[in-house]
Amino acid sequence: MDSRFWWPILLALAMASAGVRSQSTDALGFLSIDCGIESGSSYVDPISNISYVSDAGFIDTGVNRNISVAYVGEVRARRYLTLRAFPNGTRNCYIIRSPAVARGSKYLLRAWFFYGNYDGLNGQPQSFDLHLGVNYWDRVNVITAESSYRAETIAVATARYLSVCLVNTGAGTPFISGIDVRPLRDGLYPAANAWRSLVMFNRWNMGEESDFVRYPADPIDRVWSPWNSSPSNWSNVSTNSTVQNFPQDFFAVPSVVMQSAVTPINSSILVITWDPLPGDVNQFFPILHISEIVDLSGTNQSRQMNIYVNGIPANTVTPPYLVADAIYGEVPLVSFPSYNLSLEASSNSTLPPILNAFELYTTMSNTSVPSDAGDVDAMTLIKERYRIQRNWMGDPCSPSAFVWDGLNCTYRLSNPPRVTALNLSASGLTGEITNSVASLSALRYLDLSYNNLTGSIPDDLANISSLKLLDLTGNQLNGSVPLSLLEMSQNGLLTLRLDGNPHLCNNGTSCNVMPAPKKKKISTPVIVILCIVPVLILLAVIAIVWRVRKTQGLRSGSSVDPQNGFLKQTDNSLQLENRQFTYRELQNITNNFQKILGKGGFGSVFHGRLEDSTQVAVKMLSQSSSQGTKEFLAEAQHLTRVHHRNLVSLVGYCKEVNHLALVYEFMSQGTLQDHLRGRANNGRALSWRQRLHIAIDSAQGLEYLQKGCKPPLVHRDVKSGNILLSETLEAKIADFGLSKAFLSEANSHISTAVVGTPGYLDPEYYNTFQLSEKSDVYSYGVVLLELITGLPPIVPGTENVLLAQWVLQRLARGNIEDVVDPKLEGEYDINCAWKCADIALKCTAQRSQQRPTMTEVLMQLKESLELENSHYNTVNTVTRSENLYSEVSDVSLNSVPEIGVSRMTEITGPTAR
Ligand SMILES: *[C@@H]1O[C@H](CO)[C@@H](O)[C@H](O)[C@H]1NC(C)=O
Ligand SMILES: *[C@@H]1O[C@H](CO)[C@@H](O)[C@H](O)[C@H]1NC(C)=O
Ligand SMILES: *[C@@H]1O[C@H](CO)[C@@H](O)[C@H](O)[C@H]1NC(C)=O
Ligand SMILES: *[C@@H]1O[C@H](CO)[C@@H](O)[C@H](O)[C@H]1NC(C)=O
Repeated sequence: MDSRFWWPILLALAMASAGVRSQSTDALGFLSIDCGIESGSSYVDPISNISYVSDAGFIDTGVNRNISVAYVGEVRARRYLTLRAFPNGTRNCYIIRSPAVARGSKYLLRAWFFYGNYDGLNGQPQSFDLHLGVNYWDRVNVITAESSYRAETIAVATARYLSVCLVNTGAGTPFISGIDVRPLRDGLYPAANAWRSLVMFNRWNMGEESDFVRYPADPIDRVWSPWNSSPSNWSNVSTNSTVQNFPQDFFAVPSVVMQSAVTPINSSILVITWDPLPGDVNQFFPILHISEIVDLSGTNQSRQMNIYVNGIPANTVTPPYLVADAIYGEVPLVSFPSYNLSLEASSNSTLPPILNAFELYTTMSNTSVPSDAGDVDAMTLIKERYRIQRNWMGDPCSPSAFVWDGLNCTYRLSNPPRVTALNLSASGLTGEITNSVASLSALRYLDLSYNNLTGSIPDDLANISSLKLLDLTGNQLNGSVPLSLLEMSQNGLLTLRLDGNPHLCNNGTSCNVMPAPKKKKISTPVIVILCIVPVLILLAVIAIVWRVRKTQGLRSGSSVDPQNGFLKQTDNSLQLENRQFTYRELQNITNNFQKILGKGGFGSVFHGRLEDSTQVAVKMLSQSSSQGTKEFLAEAQHLTRVHHRNLVSLVGYCKEVNHLALVYEFMSQGTLQDHLRGRANNGRALSWRQRLHIAIDSAQGLEYLQKGCKPPLVHRDVKSGNILLSETLEAKIADFGLSKAFLSEANSHISTAVVGTPGYLDPEYYNTFQLSEKSDVYSYGVVLLELITGLPPIVPGTENVLLAQWVLQRLARGNIEDVVDPKLEGEYDINCAWKCADIALKCTAQRSQQRPTMTEVLMQLKESLELENSHYNTVNTVTRSENLYSEVSDVSLNSVPEIGVSRMTEITGPTAR
């Protein structure tokens, strides 16, 4: 029986037995969890009519606590009276499953925290982290005992469950008072998607100074905070008439929120400013909700306003009467030291600007890769079957800092992590060995020794083809050992340990203690054949491989000509395994250096053909270039160490007294730079899809340098001129002359001389001499922008600005068409282009810390390709007029009245409403 067949049934059984029954939602699809109340209990909040359930069905660690009596009188919501605290374990996770959560759906997820001196310690300010699944969500800073704090995100569930994890950062015991899960229809908050969640900074109901608005006034139960920081020259306006939403509106702001607004008195301008929090994500999505609430018909009054973001003209709005309009951006505002938003009456307007509601979000990148879904399911079943506590919460392998105790995982490039070892030795396991173990299909080591396991050994274990060790020592197993496992063991593929199982039978007839089988003890002729044939084949293969190796080795002349002084200093470290050419051979190959492919500071590159007519590129170091020798040798050294299909490969070299040359595979389509600037391919432009593939290929090459090489290698000169294209336009990174290996643990490096190419240079490296792999990410980002725009890294003409700045300025006006290479003639998916621009801009963030890793970049690019492939044309919801940024003339913002906003995770005087 195929074990997979049983999963759904087992899963259903396991869920039924694990108290999942209490994971039900109410009629609205809301799930409201009150943490720390008695297991199984529930109640309906009399004010909101929302039902709350105990958190016991969602987590099995932590301890229930009551807040101190001194604070009981302070709270206005029952949820704050109790909490669950996590004195043990670094990461503790709630798992929220169906029916509250379905894969691919969008949710508003909110966590509440009220300290209330529950531990009697009158605690100092404390803080801990909140993760959503494998991604960092927010930091909870608890400053006072009588304040409640909330964290909120709008996220798409990328698995069949959402997990909310509290992570101890060494600054206090994590605790939580409540969790709310609210389903959102897909079209709401278009900026939240599978690869990016929005994290709430705050959400204000402008013109309302004291009351919070929640469900039922807001059917999706957002919390709208009162705005109580108006400067003296702002006034509140309101209406009793209902404000409608556009059909399929993206924000569905409730009428009661839109019915009040702020407007300046004796001024035609309204400014709001905010600063990113130190250490916080510096990316913002502001959303302005605007409606006219004064009836202007029959008057000669008019209201029109221009909106500016950090002085950049964004949009001009004439607020529609009693209809909610929204102004927002498709790309986040990124990396400004501070932000300001200004609404100014336009010259035709007789009335000042108006603002009804304002939401501000930062972002959470969904970039950590969760474990293989099959492994997650299997581990969940194993955990439930044996009621294992430990730190088994959240994702089993990811992030690697929180891997479950007793597991080993592999992390390979952008693939999901896999479980490779499961050690439950001496863990008090009882009952039978669950079949779920056999679903861990990448498992190599399985140690279940010294438990009280009974029953027989499942046949299915033999289906784990990678299994190397199975240790069942010291249990109460009975029945016979599956033949398939015995065979694996006798073939030397598996180490099988079965000692100390007194009831285990050898073959179903005799029931003696079975000694661990000896590897070389072959019992039947069949097994002999089974065993010997593969071994012979293997030996034959090894012999062939060895011969091939050997032949290559003979040609590669490991002996260095003692007369050859050229390489003397570096001979020890430079051990080229590739073919060695003589200068005369090179003359033949290149037909006496006839065809020049390119020229560099070091010398020239020539076209050549080997004896078997394989084309090659021969890079000769010119004799006058003394400085190039070092780089030349460095390149040779690196290239013999790195091998990847997206890195140009070395065929051989020549090292004679006066002739130093490197011979590479020939890349017939030349450099990416030539293609983008129309100097190749008969001037025909690369298509969008070709560009995406080139972007992915190059990213793979770089990722390999960072992740696949030990020690990792920083290329230091990533640019379109160093990306070569094969006949089929497969991209490979070339020119490793400036590359540097990182030998230090710290993963960064002070370099004495900044090298690289202007326009591609990491500004942080340039300023601090601090070299890191993120420097290549920066340069790669510039290449990605070149692919998108077709422009060089420094935009020529009067502007002469860096390409990233040029793109950012244009994107701030909300128009991707202004940015994408006109040679594409509109032949690309808009969403895909936005996403690529977003990735590129992240790569070119000023601070290296804010740049993604190549692994993340690669994952995002692959998603972009999927967008392109599926001609994903759904809700690209944002029409230009609603866009936050569009073109309006310049304006000066000197000396205007303004009001600063700050992040308010804190709400004093909590209320259930
Ligand atoms: C919390 O208070 C309730 C009632 O006041 C009590 O029954 C319960 O045992 C308390 N729980 C804890 C953990 O102290
Ligand atoms: C708004 O931001 C822009 C760009 O950062 C800056 O030049 C301007 O002075 C700011 N205005 C205010 C009122 O802070
Ligand atoms: C505002 O005035 C400008 C000219 O000053 C005119 O072009 C524009 O159409 C006017 N806008 C509205 C909404 O009346
Ligand atoms: C499993 O863990 C036990 C206890 O930590 C250890 O003795 C044993 O060697 C481990 N097994 C494997 C296969 O590593």
